[in-house]
Amino acid sequence: MKLWGGRFENQTEKAAFDFQSSIHIDKRLYKEDILGSIAHSKTLNKCGVLNDDETNKVIKSLNEILDDIENGVLDIGMEYEDIHTFIEATLTERIGELGKKIHTGRSRNDQVATDFRMYLGKEVDLLVQLLKDLEKALITISEENLDTILSGYTHMQKAQPLTLAHYMMAYFEMFKRDIERLLEVKNRIMIMPLGSGALAGTTFDLNREYTCQLLGFEDITYNSLDGVSDRDFAIELTSDLSIIMMHLSRFCEEIILWSTEEFSYIEMDDGFSTGSSIMPQKKNPDVAELIRGKTGRVYGSNITLLTMMKSLPLAYNKDMQEDKEAVFDSIDTAKACIGIFTEMIMSIKFNKERMLIASEDGYTNATDLADYLVRKGIPFRETHKISGQIVQFAIKHNKKLSEISIESFKSFSNLIEDDIYKEISIKTCVNKRKLIGGPAGEAVIKSINRAKKFLNK
Ligand code: ARG
Repeated sequence: MKLWGGRFENQTEKAAFDFQSSIHIDKRLYKEDILGSIAHSKTLNKCGVLNDDETNKVIKSLNEILDDIENGVLDIGMEYEDIHTFIEATLTERIGELGKKIHTGRSRNDQVATDFRMYLGKEVDLLVQLLKDLEKALITISEENLDTILSGYTHMQKAQPLTLAHYMMAYFEMFKRDIERLLEVKNRIMIMPLGSGALAGTTFDLNREYTCQLLGFEDITYNSLDGVSDRDFAIELTSDLSIIMMHLSRFCEEIILWSTEEFSYIEMDDGFSTGSSIMPQKKNPDVAELIRGKTGRVYGSNITLLTMMKSLPLAYNKDMQEDKEAVFDSIDTAKACIGIFTEMIMSIKFNKERMLIASEDGYTNATDLADYLVRKGIPFRETHKISGQIVQFAIKHNKKLSEISIESFKSFSNLIEDDIYKEISIKTCVNKRKLIGGPAGEAVIKSINRAKKFLNK
């Protein structure tokens, strides 16, 4: 079932019609399509295309169609070309000839762009809410682990000791930027193209600002060609979702590593792990792995859209119908991943003792030894060398820095005193790093307070 055909002598091949129809994908825009049509009919009323009585009938019927779809009374028929066709055809079936007036001054080109933007605006709000829930979980874990010490890594080699709270709050910062990006793209999504027509606007005097206000858009588009052919907002959104997935994937990678026998920093909850069909002892971090794996399809959607758009002359081209499948999939994927990830990390048990012990290996306090000598007046480049020589000595004698005798220390620098042991204790190393953005519990509390303010904004 289609909305056109007057100029055709022959029927569309069934295979071709099915190939080009999109209702199986765009059916989820039914609500936006109906709300868009209600607003459009009010605007048609203002410019005299529909009288008051007609407008009321159209609106009443459209509201009933919406209710019937939502209550399962009316099935969206897959024989229709797209959701716009289905809604218009159903309206006409119900109120007769009057239904045929609703498309005056409108094209599916500006209609679909409007529906799509409305839908995405709401989805962005849901995504932001999911990310905020994740952020709250990270704050909870951080507050419980202000003094939990673990080693940080660079190049996957032990580097310097940190607190687990600081580690978690690093991810908080990433997801905070994700929230900010989503709120920014929402400004560009909430622009109304309706009134652009097929590409050249319309001869009817539509009050676009009025429609814009009815539909809750922030502004209207100011060029009808661009209005129907812009998909930048969808590209930006899938790019933002790609970054979210990249962040989740990094976190998952960390969780997968930390749950290995070799690390044993965490224990995954049974509820978020699965077993092996052959190896009875296995407990695998499948949820984390699957989130890492699903990152690829979200990147894919971003590339799909960029490639789809790259050679399109103005204005609408049918290629653009491919936009929705890619965007819907990336939103569905990101939402599912953020939701399950939040539950998963809340269930993780942190092996604090193991983290602390591991942070004491690997000479993670060597920088602090160098800093100690800086405070005694030696330039850092010099103290870096001395500390390196002491580390070499310690490796040779199979000792930690804290196990070296004061006499041995003095053989490298006679400025080293007894207080060295306190100064290079892992706890001191962390607690002294209390500058803004540092890992000390004292500094992380301040970050957490800033974070809470952000979430309450
Ligand atoms: N199903 C189409 C899409 O999603 C709607 C717009 C179609 N316009 C057209 N002239 N064929 O892009």
